[in-house]
Amino acid sequence: MAGLLLMNCSMNAQQTNPLLQHESEITGIIKSMTLEEKVNMLHGKNMFSSAGVERLGIADIEYADGPFGIREEMEPHSWKGLGWETDRATFFPTGSALAATWSRDIAYQYGKAMAIEARLRGKDMILGPAMNIQRIPTGGRTYEYLSEDPILSGQLAIGYTLGAQDNDEAVCLKHFALNNQENMRGFVNVNVTERAMREIYLTPFEMAVKQGNAYGVMAAYNKVWGRWCSENDLLQNRILRIEWGFRGIIISDWGGTHSTVGAAIGGLDVEMPGNTYMGQALIDSVRSGAVPMEVIDAKVRNLLRVRMAITPVPKDKANKEVTSQPAQQQIAYQVASKSIVLLKNADNLLPIGKKVKTIAVIGDNATRKMAQGGVGAGVKALYEITPLEGLQTALKGKAKIIYAQGYEPQPRARRGQNANLDEWKKKAETMKAEAIEAARKADMVIFVGGDNREVETEGSDRTNMNLPFNQEELIEAIATVNPRLVTVMVAGAPVDLRRVNPATKALVYSWFNGSEGGHALADVLTGKVSPSGKLPFTLPVRLEDSPAYALGVFPQKAQAGSSDVFVDLVNRDNFRAEQKADADYSEGILVGYRWFTTKNVKPMYPFGYGLSYMPFSYSDPKAEVKGGNLEVSFKLTNAGKKEAEEVAQVYVARPDSKVERPKYELKGFERVSVKGGTTQDVTITIPMEQLRHWNEFQHAWNIEKGKAIIYIGTSSVDLPLTVEVEI
Ligand code: BGC
Repeated sequence: MAGLLLMNCSMNAQQTNPLLQHESEITGIIKSMTLEEKVNMLHGKNMFSSAGVERLGIADIEYADGPFGIREEMEPHSWKGLGWETDRATFFPTGSALAATWSRDIAYQYGKAMAIEARLRGKDMILGPAMNIQRIPTGGRTYEYLSEDPILSGQLAIGYTLGAQDNDEAVCLKHFALNNQENMRGFVNVNVTERAMREIYLTPFEMAVKQGNAYGVMAAYNKVWGRWCSENDLLQNRILRIEWGFRGIIISDWGGTHSTVGAAIGGLDVEMPGNTYMGQALIDSVRSGAVPMEVIDAKVRNLLRVRMAITPVPKDKANKEVTSQPAQQQIAYQVASKSIVLLKNADNLLPIGKKVKTIAVIGDNATRKMAQGGVGAGVKALYEITPLEGLQTALKGKAKIIYAQGYEPQPRARRGQNANLDEWKKKAETMKAEAIEAARKADMVIFVGGDNREVETEGSDRTNMNLPFNQEELIEAIATVNPRLVTVMVAGAPVDLRRVNPATKALVYSWFNGSEGGHALADVLTGKVSPSGKLPFTLPVRLEDSPAYALGVFPQKAQAGSSDVFVDLVNRDNFRAEQKADADYSEGILVGYRWFTTKNVKPMYPFGYGLSYMPFSYSDPKAEVKGGNLEVSFKLTNAGKKEAEEVAQVYVARPDSKVERPKYELKGFERVSVKGGTTQDVTITIPMEQLRHWNEFQHAWNIEKGKAIIYIGTSSVDLPLTVEVEI
């Protein structure tokens, strides 16, 4: 009976899976193709496309770098922009900002908006979402990735995937897998327990493949268990395809292919962007018998499935209008306004009151645009509202704004030259004096600082969490002349707040928040929108408190005989074979808040944390196992005057477990809007499968029977309700 049921389910999935609608047609096409035509599909044609078959009327596949805006048009074989005007796109809030909304529905809108803009540009597949677990606070791509938790990351990736693919655009989940650091990413080998790999690092991908039916996956640069991801039979063939039933394409990261036979047999479908390994060398390998023709045919089938599931945009229809359009800009605003996290609000300094007549806005990030920078993912944005512009619009006619830059980023040394630090330091003194003067004259100060896109960047990790450019000193100096100080952190990753937190009355995290970021920030600061974002990662007190640093397993050193090179992002052929480094994930499953709560390490601000202007309270918890789900319900009261949104969170502990467990783990969450002065019933349905753990002896998932304690509340440490249930 159970077997029958399973069969029926998979038949239904086949009937409805858009990737499987043309199987017999595809068989016919493959039969009619020459080996050269087949292999021609299996590598980059241009920097961002792979070939179709012109003779058969099969269009190329056009890829577009996301994940947070459609990247500009580039020359066919270089990274040089074409300098067009129509390719100006909407800059959407970056990954950690999207994750701070804790909303699969918002992620759906985000994916949809990205899809609409991608299609305007003639693209078939967005290279995103980027969704590796934020393992270390200093990770160069933390801002681009989603969260430190697999369920949160997975739900957001499902939303993004469905939103894009329901709108005729494929996604490409990246980077599969365990690309959790940028240092040495081109050759580092990840040693991780099977359990941590499954429960923490692979789960978000599994969710997006199984529940989102993602059409594409990008193999990561690094190695896992001694094998390059792009030729990793375990990850690509056994887990992704056989176990999860993935039917789409696996493409390499740019320059991340390392062999012909290994990659072909190991599961890679498309080498990007060139044809070093999967061009003539692949043809030769088939002819010599090293790669069977069935392997090639299977890859061509995967490509044709994706090609047929997505309607090609005719070349003469692409790039006719400007990519960024009002409807998508509105979505960028929605995401941004729900992502902003209020960490501290002493004396209810926020929202900005009516009595405030003069505001000093201080800080380089008040006017800095964040759409581009660092090395990789960047958006040629049509526009970007800065925090200062947002505040000027929102406060027009209500308060006077005085702006002082306060500090400026430290100049970087150019090759063969030292940076002129003396001049920079002299200028810093003047800027500081101007800022203090502005603060003294104002009723309130809004300091807008944090990182920028040079500090948080692809290709390298930060060496520490310090707030750069002496901002702490400046913030403290400002606070002494005007204690009515709000600090806004524009950053995509954790920063050290030990000095900032006590110096400032109100503290806000506002991310790299997209084209509409300045409007969203102003609306939160002025109270038009009650803040509802929640931290998607733990903000540690000290870097050494976070697991990989506490255990001394990050940063690692490249082994003797090799140098820690920066991957050359222009000529991506310089991964030298002799370079070696191991990343030991010794913390196992205790990643992020799982470490902090289990080891009783107090963070600066915990995972899931974020205040509201409205007083929310939780009551009346219930939990029951019903129809294969764990149903958790409770009441959520907004005792304030205005409607506001709150993200309610459910964590589950297994006190009698036979295996190591974190103190508790996030299993469900819901963004709820509650009218002022009302109480709402909330039910969060958690599929039983989410209570699973990986059994390392059986190499399989288990759901343990016994007691579960359900914790309900507003962050990973503020959990006022508990209820027990038998599993
Ligand atoms: C990044 C990918 C990106 C690709 C193409 C790589 O360096 O890791 O995320 O999609 O470049 O730009």
